[in-house]
Amino acid sequence: MVADILKKISERKAKIGVVGLGYVGLPLTKEFINAGFNVLGLDVDMEKIKKLKKSQSYIKHIDSDLLKKMNATGRFDATNDFSKSSTCDAIIICVPTPLTHNREPDMSYIISTAESLAPYVRKGQLFSLESTTYPGTTTEVLCPILEKKSNLKAHRDFFVAFSPEREDPNNKNFSTSTIPKVVGADSKDSLKVARAMYDTIICRTIPVSSSSTAEATKLVENIFRSVNIAMVNELKVIFDKMGIDIWEVIEAAKTKPFGFMPFYPGPGLGGHCIPIDPFYLTWKAREYNCSTRFIELAGEINTFMPYYVIQRTLEEMNERKMVMNGSKFLIVGVAYKKNVDDLRESPSFMLWKLLEEKGAKVEYYDPFCPVVPRTREYPQYTGKKSVTLKSGKYDVALIATAHDSVNHKEIAKLAKLVIDTRNAVPKAKNVVKA
Ligand SMILES: NC(=O)c1ccc[n+]([C@@H]2O[C@H](COP(=O)([O-])OP(=O)(O)OC[C@H]3O[C@@H](n4cnc5c(N)ncnc54)[C@H](O)[C@@H]3O)[C@@H](O)[C@H]2O)c1
Repeated sequence: MVADILKKISERKAKIGVVGLGYVGLPLTKEFINAGFNVLGLDVDMEKIKKLKKSQSYIKHIDSDLLKKMNATGRFDATNDFSKSSTCDAIIICVPTPLTHNREPDMSYIISTAESLAPYVRKGQLFSLESTTYPGTTTEVLCPILEKKSNLKAHRDFFVAFSPEREDPNNKNFSTSTIPKVVGADSKDSLKVARAMYDTIICRTIPVSSSSTAEATKLVENIFRSVNIAMVNELKVIFDKMGIDIWEVIEAAKTKPFGFMPFYPGPGLGGHCIPIDPFYLTWKAREYNCSTRFIELAGEINTFMPYYVIQRTLEEMNERKMVMNGSKFLIVGVAYKKNVDDLRESPSFMLWKLLEEKGAKVEYYDPFCPVVPRTREYPQYTGKKSVTLKSGKYDVALIATAHDSVNHKEIAKLAKLVIDTRNAVPKAKNVVKA
Protein backbone atom coordinates (compact mmCIF):
# COMPACT_ATOMS: atom_id res chain seq x y z
CA MET A 1 0.00 0.00 0.00
CA VAL A 2 2.81 2.43 0.93
CA ALA A 3 4.87 1.52 -2.12
CA ASP A 4 1.85 2.02 -4.42
CA ILE A 5 1.12 5.57 -3.35
CA LEU A 6 4.82 6.52 -3.17
CA LYS A 7 5.25 5.32 -6.76
CA LYS A 8 2.20 7.26 -7.91
CA ILE A 9 3.50 10.40 -6.18
CA SER A 10 6.99 10.11 -7.64
CA GLU A 11 5.57 9.55 -11.13
CA ARG A 12 3.10 12.44 -10.68
CA LYS A 13 0.28 9.99 -11.28
CA ALA A 14 -1.31 10.55 -7.87
CA LYS A 15 -4.43 12.72 -8.00
CA ILE A 16 -4.49 15.42 -5.32
CA GLY A 17 -7.74 16.64 -3.76
CA VAL A 18 -7.76 20.05 -2.09
CA VAL A 19 -10.72 20.74 0.19
CA GLY A 20 -11.32 24.44 0.81
CA LEU A 21 -10.22 26.61 -2.11
CA GLY A 22 -9.43 29.77 -0.16
CA TYR A 23 -6.28 31.70 0.72
CA VAL A 24 -4.51 28.44 1.61
CA GLY A 25 -6.13 25.92 -0.74
CA LEU A 26 -5.80 27.85 -3.97
CA PRO A 27 -2.02 28.49 -3.80
CA LEU A 28 -1.52 24.81 -2.89
CA THR A 29 -3.62 23.78 -5.88
CA LYS A 30 -1.46 25.95 -8.12
CA GLU A 31 1.75 24.34 -6.81
CA PHE A 32 0.52 20.78 -7.35
CA ILE A 33 -0.65 21.64 -10.89
CA ASN A 34 2.77 23.20 -11.61
CA ALA A 35 4.44 20.04 -10.30
CA GLY A 36 2.53 18.00 -12.88
CA PHE A 37 -0.28 16.49 -10.78
CA ASN A 38 -3.99 16.26 -11.50
CA VAL A 39 -5.84 18.28 -8.88
CA LEU A 40 -9.47 18.16 -7.84
CA GLY A 41 -10.63 21.18 -5.84
CA LEU A 42 -13.54 20.57 -3.46
CA ASP A 43 -15.49 23.41 -1.91
CA VAL A 44 -19.02 24.00 -0.62
CA ASP A 45 -19.09 27.48 -2.16
CA MET A 46 -20.53 27.07 -5.68
CA GLU A 47 -19.73 30.71 -6.52
CA LYS A 48 -16.02 30.02 -6.05
CA ILE A 49 -16.21 26.87 -8.14
CA LYS A 50 -17.98 28.70 -10.98
CA LYS A 51 -15.41 31.50 -10.87
CA LEU A 52 -12.48 29.08 -10.90
CA LYS A 53 -13.90 27.28 -13.91
CA LYS A 54 -14.14 30.64 -15.70
CA SER A 55 -10.58 31.50 -14.55
CA GLN A 56 -11.88 34.40 -12.49
CA SER A 57 -9.87 34.93 -9.34
CA TYR A 58 -11.37 35.97 -6.02
CA ILE A 59 -7.99 36.41 -4.30
CA LYS A 60 -6.01 39.50 -5.22
CA HIS A 61 -2.53 37.96 -5.30
CA ILE A 62 -3.65 35.01 -7.47
CA ASP A 63 -4.36 36.64 -10.78
CA SER A 64 -6.76 35.37 -13.40
CA ASP A 65 -3.95 34.64 -15.89
CA LEU A 66 -2.61 32.12 -13.42
CA LEU A 67 -6.02 30.44 -13.23
CA LYS A 68 -6.22 30.44 -17.03
CA LYS A 69 -2.87 28.62 -17.15
CA MET A 70 -4.12 26.16 -14.51
CA ASN A 71 -7.29 25.43 -16.47
CA ALA A 72 -5.36 25.20 -19.74
CA THR A 73 -3.32 22.26 -18.41
CA GLY A 74 -6.51 20.18 -18.38
CA ARG A 75 -5.33 18.81 -15.03
CA PHE A 76 -7.56 20.92 -12.81
CA ASP A 77 -11.20 20.45 -11.92
CA ALA A 78 -13.35 21.88 -9.13
CA THR A 79 -16.56 20.55 -7.68
CA ASN A 80 -18.87 20.51 -4.66
CA ASP A 81 -19.55 16.82 -5.24
CA PHE A 82 -17.62 15.04 -2.48
CA SER A 83 -18.23 11.59 -3.96
CA LYS A 84 -15.49 12.53 -6.44
CA SER A 85 -12.99 12.54 -3.58
CA SER A 86 -12.78 8.76 -3.99
CA THR A 87 -10.89 9.40 -7.24
CA CYS A 88 -8.13 11.20 -5.30
CA ASP A 89 -5.05 9.52 -3.88
CA ALA A 90 -4.24 12.30 -1.43
CA ILE A 91 -6.65 14.80 0.08
CA ILE A 92 -5.53 18.00 1.74
CA ILE A 93 -8.00 19.76 4.02
CA CYS A 94 -7.72 23.53 4.44
CA VAL A 95 -11.11 24.72 5.66
CA PRO A 96 -11.67 27.59 8.13
CA THR A 97 -11.10 27.25 11.88
CA PRO A 98 -12.61 30.40 13.43
CA LEU A 99 -13.81 30.95 16.99
CA THR A 100 -17.44 30.73 18.04
CA HIS A 101 -19.19 33.76 19.57
CA ASN A 102 -18.07 32.44 22.97
CA ARG A 103 -14.47 32.45 21.69
CA GLU A 104 -14.17 28.69 21.64
CA PRO A 105 -12.80 26.63 18.71
CA ASP A 106 -15.39 26.34 15.95
CA MET A 107 -14.71 22.84 14.67
CA SER A 108 -17.84 22.72 12.52
CA TYR A 109 -15.94 23.16 9.22
CA ILE A 110 -13.47 20.36 9.94
CA ILE A 111 -16.26 18.11 11.17
CA SER A 112 -18.52 18.71 8.19
CA THR A 113 -15.61 18.23 5.79
CA ALA A 114 -14.69 14.93 7.46
CA GLU A 115 -18.34 13.82 7.32
CA SER A 116 -18.58 14.71 3.63
CA LEU A 117 -15.39 12.78 2.82
CA ALA A 118 -16.02 9.79 5.10
CA PRO A 119 -18.44 7.79 2.89
CA TYR A 120 -15.88 7.84 0.07
CA VAL A 121 -12.69 6.97 1.97
CA ARG A 122 -10.85 4.11 0.34
CA LYS A 123 -7.81 2.06 1.21
CA GLY A 124 -4.45 3.64 0.51
CA GLN A 125 -5.60 7.26 0.48
CA LEU A 126 -3.72 10.00 2.34
CA PHE A 127 -5.55 12.71 4.31
CA SER A 128 -3.57 15.72 5.40
CA LEU A 129 -5.17 18.34 7.59
CA GLU A 130 -3.73 21.86 7.25
CA SER A 131 -6.30 23.97 9.11
CA THR A 132 -4.80 25.59 12.19
CA THR A 133 -6.18 23.87 15.27
CA TYR A 134 -5.53 22.63 18.81
CA PRO A 135 -3.23 19.66 19.50
CA GLY A 136 -5.22 16.47 19.25
CA THR A 137 -7.63 17.46 16.47
CA THR A 138 -6.26 15.02 13.91
CA THR A 139 -6.50 12.01 16.22
CA GLU A 140 -9.56 13.03 18.24
CA VAL A 141 -11.76 14.66 15.59
CA LEU A 142 -10.65 13.86 12.04
CA CYS A 143 -9.65 10.19 12.31
CA PRO A 144 -12.74 8.93 14.20
CA ILE A 145 -15.13 10.45 11.65
CA LEU A 146 -13.19 9.10 8.67
CA GLU A 147 -12.95 5.67 10.33
CA LYS A 148 -16.54 5.38 11.51
CA LYS A 149 -18.29 5.89 8.20
CA SER A 150 -15.74 4.00 6.12
CA ASN A 151 -15.18 1.04 8.42
CA LEU A 152 -11.48 1.48 7.75
CA LYS A 153 -8.71 2.16 10.23
CA ALA A 154 -6.39 5.17 10.13
CA HIS A 155 -2.70 4.30 9.65
CA ARG A 156 -3.64 0.70 8.80
CA ASP A 157 -5.97 1.24 5.82
CA PHE A 158 -5.39 4.88 5.00
CA PHE A 159 -2.75 7.46 5.89
CA VAL A 160 -3.31 10.58 7.99
CA ALA A 161 -1.06 13.55 8.71
CA PHE A 162 -1.18 17.08 9.97
CA SER A 163 0.86 19.73 8.19
CA PRO A 164 0.35 23.31 9.30
CA GLU A 165 0.00 26.01 6.70
CA ARG A 166 2.46 28.90 6.81
CA GLU A 167 1.06 30.86 3.88
CA ASP A 168 1.75 34.58 4.05
CA PRO A 169 -0.34 36.06 1.24
CA ASN A 170 1.51 38.48 -1.01
CA ASN A 171 4.85 38.04 0.77
CA LYS A 172 7.40 39.01 -1.90
CA ASN A 173 10.22 36.93 -0.36
CA PHE A 174 8.44 33.66 0.36
CA SER A 175 5.71 31.71 -1.41
CA THR A 176 4.04 28.35 -0.80
CA SER A 177 6.90 26.36 -2.33
CA THR A 178 9.77 28.22 -0.64
CA ILE A 179 8.42 28.11 2.92
CA PRO A 180 9.69 25.00 4.76
CA LYS A 181 6.77 22.85 5.87
CA VAL A 182 6.35 20.91 9.11
CA VAL A 183 4.72 17.49 8.72
CA GLY A 184 3.58 15.32 11.61
CA ALA A 185 1.86 11.94 11.69
CA ASP A 186 1.13 9.15 14.13
CA SER A 187 2.69 6.32 12.13
CA LYS A 188 5.91 5.98 10.17
CA ASP A 189 4.06 5.16 6.96
CA SER A 190 1.70 8.12 7.18
CA LEU A 191 4.65 10.43 7.77
CA LYS A 192 6.58 8.92 4.86
CA VAL A 193 3.70 9.26 2.43
CA ALA A 194 2.77 12.80 3.54
CA ARG A 195 6.38 13.98 3.27
CA ALA A 196 6.74 12.40 -0.15
CA MET A 197 3.70 14.33 -1.35
CA TYR A 198 4.80 17.70 0.05
CA ASP A 199 8.40 17.15 -1.07
CA THR A 200 7.17 17.42 -4.66
CA ILE A 201 6.15 21.06 -4.17
CA ILE A 202 7.97 22.40 -1.08
CA CYS A 203 11.67 23.26 -0.75
CA ARG A 204 12.01 21.41 2.57
CA THR A 205 9.74 19.36 4.79
CA ILE A 206 10.42 19.06 8.50
CA PRO A 207 9.18 15.80 10.02
CA VAL A 208 7.93 15.78 13.60
CA SER A 209 7.01 12.78 15.72
CA SER A 210 3.21 13.18 15.88
CA SER A 211 0.26 15.07 14.47
CA SER A 212 -0.17 16.79 17.86
CA THR A 213 3.42 18.07 17.71
CA ALA A 214 2.74 19.54 14.28
CA GLU A 215 -0.53 21.09 15.51
CA ALA A 216 1.30 22.57 18.51
CA THR A 217 4.11 23.92 16.31
CA LYS A 218 1.68 26.07 14.35
CA LEU A 219 0.09 27.43 17.52
CA VAL A 220 3.49 28.29 18.99
CA GLU A 221 4.37 30.28 15.87
CA ASN A 222 1.20 32.34 16.13
CA ILE A 223 1.26 32.73 19.91
CA PHE A 224 4.83 34.04 19.55
CA ARG A 225 3.56 36.74 17.20
CA SER A 226 0.54 37.63 19.30
CA VAL A 227 2.57 37.98 22.51
CA ASN A 228 5.32 40.05 20.89
CA ILE A 229 2.86 42.34 19.14
CA ALA A 230 1.10 42.84 22.48
CA MET A 231 4.41 43.72 24.08
CA VAL A 232 5.21 46.48 21.58
CA ASN A 233 1.62 47.73 21.77
CA GLU A 234 1.97 48.09 25.52
CA LEU A 235 5.36 49.78 25.14
CA LYS A 236 3.84 52.17 22.58
CA VAL A 237 1.36 53.42 25.18
CA ILE A 238 4.07 53.87 27.84
CA PHE A 239 6.64 55.52 25.54
CA ASP A 240 4.02 57.84 24.08
CA LYS A 241 3.39 59.24 27.58
CA MET A 242 7.16 59.73 27.95
CA GLY A 243 7.37 61.55 24.63
CA ILE A 244 9.40 58.72 23.07
CA ASP A 245 8.61 57.43 19.59
CA ILE A 246 8.27 53.61 19.75
CA TRP A 247 9.00 53.35 16.03
CA GLU A 248 12.32 55.09 16.41
CA VAL A 249 13.13 52.84 19.37
CA ILE A 250 12.42 49.67 17.36
CA GLU A 251 14.50 50.90 14.42
CA ALA A 252 17.41 51.43 16.78
CA ALA A 253 16.91 48.17 18.71
CA LYS A 254 16.80 46.06 15.57
CA THR A 255 20.38 47.00 14.70
CA LYS A 256 21.40 44.47 17.37
CA PRO A 257 22.50 41.53 15.24
CA PHE A 258 21.37 38.83 17.70
CA GLY A 259 18.73 38.28 20.38
CA PHE A 260 16.23 40.79 19.04
CA MET A 261 13.51 40.54 16.42
CA PRO A 262 11.42 43.57 15.54
CA PHE A 263 7.65 43.57 15.99
CA TYR A 264 5.59 46.65 15.29
CA PRO A 265 2.65 48.24 17.09
CA GLY A 266 -0.68 48.90 15.42
CA PRO A 267 -4.36 49.60 15.95
CA GLY A 268 -5.10 46.01 17.00
CA LEU A 269 -4.73 42.50 15.65
CA GLY A 270 -6.37 41.31 12.46
CA GLY A 271 -6.52 38.40 10.08
CA HIS A 272 -7.69 34.84 10.28
CA CYS A 273 -4.75 33.63 12.39
CA ILE A 274 -3.10 35.75 15.08
CA PRO A 275 -6.23 37.00 16.92
CA ILE A 276 -7.81 33.54 16.84
CA ASP A 277 -5.36 30.65 16.88
CA PRO A 278 -3.84 31.24 20.35
CA PHE A 279 -7.29 30.73 21.88
CA TYR A 280 -7.43 27.23 20.41
CA LEU A 281 -4.70 26.36 22.88
CA THR A 282 -6.40 28.23 25.73
CA TRP A 283 -9.48 26.08 25.20
CA LYS A 284 -7.54 22.81 25.04
CA ALA A 285 -5.34 23.74 28.02
CA ARG A 286 -8.44 23.88 30.23
CA GLU A 287 -8.81 20.13 29.76
CA TYR A 288 -5.44 19.83 31.55
CA ASN A 289 -6.33 22.39 34.26
CA CYS A 290 -3.79 24.79 32.80
CA SER A 291 -4.27 28.46 32.19
CA THR A 292 -2.61 30.30 29.32
CA ARG A 293 -1.73 33.62 30.95
CA PHE A 294 0.55 34.95 28.23
CA ILE A 295 -2.13 34.31 25.62
CA GLU A 296 -4.86 35.94 27.70
CA LEU A 297 -2.75 38.97 28.54
CA ALA A 298 -1.66 39.45 24.94
CA GLY A 299 -5.31 39.14 23.85
CA GLU A 300 -6.33 41.74 26.43
CA ILE A 301 -3.68 44.26 25.35
CA ASN A 302 -4.24 43.76 21.63
CA THR A 303 -8.04 43.97 21.99
CA PHE A 304 -7.63 47.25 23.88
CA MET A 305 -5.68 48.89 21.02
CA PRO A 306 -8.62 50.24 18.97
CA TYR A 307 -9.99 51.86 22.17
CA TYR A 308 -6.57 53.36 22.84
CA VAL A 309 -6.38 54.79 19.31
CA ILE A 310 -9.82 56.40 19.68
CA GLN A 311 -8.89 57.76 23.12
CA ARG A 312 -5.71 59.34 21.68
CA THR A 313 -7.73 60.74 18.77
CA LEU A 314 -10.21 62.33 21.19
CA GLU A 315 -7.36 63.88 23.19
CA GLU A 316 -5.67 65.29 20.09
CA MET A 317 -8.95 66.66 18.74
CA ASN A 318 -9.61 68.27 22.10
CA GLU A 319 -6.17 69.95 21.97
CA ARG A 320 -7.18 71.47 18.64
CA LYS A 321 -10.68 72.47 19.81
CA MET A 322 -12.22 69.90 17.48
CA VAL A 323 -15.26 67.77 18.34
CA MET A 324 -15.54 64.15 17.30
CA ASN A 325 -19.33 64.28 17.15
CA GLY A 326 -20.14 65.39 13.60
CA SER A 327 -16.51 65.39 12.38
CA LYS A 328 -15.67 63.89 8.99
CA PHE A 329 -13.28 60.94 9.28
CA LEU A 330 -11.40 59.04 6.63
CA ILE A 331 -10.20 55.58 7.66
CA VAL A 332 -7.22 54.77 5.47
CA GLY A 333 -6.90 51.01 4.95
CA VAL A 334 -9.50 48.46 5.97
CA ALA A 335 -7.57 45.30 5.09
CA TYR A 336 -6.15 43.71 8.22
CA LYS A 337 -2.57 44.18 7.00
CA LYS A 338 -0.77 45.96 4.23
CA ASN A 339 -0.78 44.86 0.58
CA VAL A 340 -3.60 42.30 0.93
CA ASP A 341 -7.35 42.44 0.30
CA ASP A 342 -8.21 40.30 3.33
CA LEU A 343 -10.63 42.01 5.75
CA ARG A 344 -11.08 39.21 8.24
CA GLU A 345 -10.94 40.41 11.86
CA SER A 346 -9.59 43.77 10.66
CA PRO A 347 -9.35 46.29 13.53
CA SER A 348 -10.41 49.01 11.06
CA PHE A 349 -14.02 47.97 11.53
CA MET A 350 -13.80 48.26 15.29
CA LEU A 351 -12.32 51.75 14.84
CA TRP A 352 -15.14 52.59 12.42
CA LYS A 353 -17.77 51.39 14.90
CA LEU A 354 -16.23 53.26 17.83
CA LEU A 355 -16.02 56.47 15.81
CA GLU A 356 -19.65 56.20 14.73
CA GLU A 357 -20.71 55.56 18.31
CA LYS A 358 -19.18 58.92 19.13
CA GLY A 359 -21.09 60.63 16.31
CA ALA A 360 -18.30 60.84 13.71
CA LYS A 361 -19.12 60.58 10.01
CA VAL A 362 -16.86 57.90 8.57
CA GLU A 363 -15.71 57.09 5.05
CA TYR A 364 -12.86 54.81 4.06
CA TYR A 365 -10.16 54.56 1.43
CA ASP A 366 -8.58 51.25 0.46
CA PRO A 367 -7.64 50.43 -3.15
CA PHE A 368 -7.27 46.76 -2.18
CA CYS A 369 -10.85 46.58 -0.87
CA PRO A 370 -13.09 48.69 -3.13
CA VAL A 371 -16.29 47.30 -1.57
CA VAL A 372 -16.82 45.84 1.89
CA PRO A 373 -18.19 42.29 1.59
CA ARG A 374 -20.50 40.86 4.23
CA THR A 375 -18.56 40.08 7.41
CA ARG A 376 -19.79 38.11 10.37
CA GLU A 377 -19.03 40.75 13.02
CA TYR A 378 -19.86 43.94 11.10
CA PRO A 379 -22.76 43.30 8.72
CA GLN A 380 -23.69 47.00 8.95
CA TYR A 381 -20.77 47.92 6.66
CA THR A 382 -21.67 45.47 3.87
CA GLY A 383 -21.57 47.21 0.47
CA LYS A 384 -19.77 50.36 1.71
CA LYS A 385 -17.42 51.62 -0.99
CA SER A 386 -13.91 53.03 -0.86
CA VAL A 387 -14.00 56.76 -1.68
CA THR A 388 -12.02 58.41 -4.45
CA LEU A 389 -9.59 60.87 -2.95
CA LYS A 390 -9.60 63.76 -5.42
CA SER A 391 -12.28 65.97 -3.94
CA GLY A 392 -12.41 64.73 -0.34
CA LYS A 393 -11.71 66.97 2.63
CA TYR A 394 -11.65 65.48 6.09
CA ASP A 395 -11.32 66.63 9.66
CA VAL A 396 -9.33 63.53 10.57
CA ALA A 397 -7.56 60.87 8.51
CA LEU A 398 -6.95 57.73 10.55
CA ILE A 399 -4.31 55.51 8.97
CA ALA A 400 -5.19 51.99 10.09
CA THR A 401 -3.44 49.97 7.37
CA ALA A 402 -0.64 51.35 5.22
CA HIS A 403 -0.48 49.65 1.81
CA ASP A 404 2.84 50.31 0.03
CA SER A 405 1.07 51.58 -3.10
CA VAL A 406 -0.88 54.30 -1.24
CA ASN A 407 0.60 57.79 -1.12
CA HIS A 408 0.03 58.57 2.54
CA LYS A 409 1.79 61.93 2.34
CA GLU A 410 -0.84 63.10 -0.16
CA ILE A 411 -3.64 61.74 2.01
CA ALA A 412 -2.23 63.61 4.99
CA LYS A 413 -2.78 66.84 3.08
CA LEU A 414 -6.52 66.17 2.90
CA ALA A 415 -7.09 66.28 6.67
CA LYS A 416 -6.67 68.78 9.49
CA LEU A 417 -5.44 65.99 11.76
CA VAL A 418 -3.78 62.69 10.86
CA ILE A 419 -3.76 59.80 13.33
CA ASP A 420 -1.06 57.45 12.14
CA THR A 421 -1.11 53.97 13.69
CA ARG A 422 1.44 52.56 11.21
CA ASN A 423 4.26 55.09 11.06
CA ALA A 424 3.23 55.80 7.46
CA VAL A 425 3.80 59.56 7.30
CA PRO A 426 6.71 61.70 8.47
CA LYS A 427 6.43 63.81 11.61
CA ALA A 428 4.45 67.02 11.09
CA LYS A 429 2.32 69.39 13.15
CA ASN A 430 -0.93 67.75 12.09
CA VAL A 431 0.40 64.16 12.37
CA VAL A 432 0.05 62.16 15.58
CA LYS A 433 1.25 58.60 15.99
CA ALA A 434 -1.08 56.46 18.05
N1 LIG B 1 -5.02 32.68 5.18
C1 LIG B 1 -3.83 32.43 5.66
O1 LIG B 1 -2.89 33.15 5.36
C2 LIG B 1 -3.56 31.23 6.56
C3 LIG B 1 -2.25 31.00 6.98
C4 LIG B 1 -1.98 29.91 7.79
C5 LIG B 1 -3.01 29.07 8.16
N2 LIG B 1 -4.29 29.31 7.76
C6 LIG B 1 -5.32 28.36 8.17
O2 LIG B 1 -5.77 27.63 7.03
C7 LIG B 1 -7.16 27.34 7.14
C8 LIG B 1 -7.91 27.88 5.94
O3 LIG B 1 -7.78 29.30 5.91
P1 LIG B 1 -8.06 30.16 4.62
O4 LIG B 1 -7.49 31.50 4.92
O5 LIG B 1 -7.63 29.46 3.38
O6 LIG B 1 -9.65 30.22 4.66
P2 LIG B 1 -10.65 30.70 3.48
O7 LIG B 1 -11.88 31.15 4.15
O8 LIG B 1 -9.93 31.62 2.55
O9 LIG B 1 -10.93 29.37 2.67
C9 LIG B 1 -11.61 28.30 3.20
C10 LIG B 1 -12.42 27.65 2.11
O10 LIG B 1 -13.06 26.50 2.66
C11 LIG B 1 -14.35 26.40 2.11
N3 LIG B 1 -15.17 25.56 2.97
C12 LIG B 1 -15.80 25.88 4.12
N4 LIG B 1 -16.43 24.81 4.62
C13 LIG B 1 -16.18 23.77 3.79
C14 LIG B 1 -16.54 22.41 3.76
N5 LIG B 1 -17.29 21.89 4.73
N6 LIG B 1 -16.12 21.66 2.74
C15 LIG B 1 -15.37 22.20 1.77
N7 LIG B 1 -14.98 23.49 1.72
C16 LIG B 1 -15.38 24.26 2.72
C17 LIG B 1 -14.80 27.85 2.01
O11 LIG B 1 -15.87 27.99 1.09
C18 LIG B 1 -13.52 28.53 1.54
O12 LIG B 1 -13.42 28.56 0.13
C19 LIG B 1 -7.59 27.93 8.48
O13 LIG B 1 -7.52 26.97 9.47
C20 LIG B 1 -6.55 29.00 8.74
O14 LIG B 1 -6.41 29.27 10.11
C21 LIG B 1 -4.58 30.37 6.95
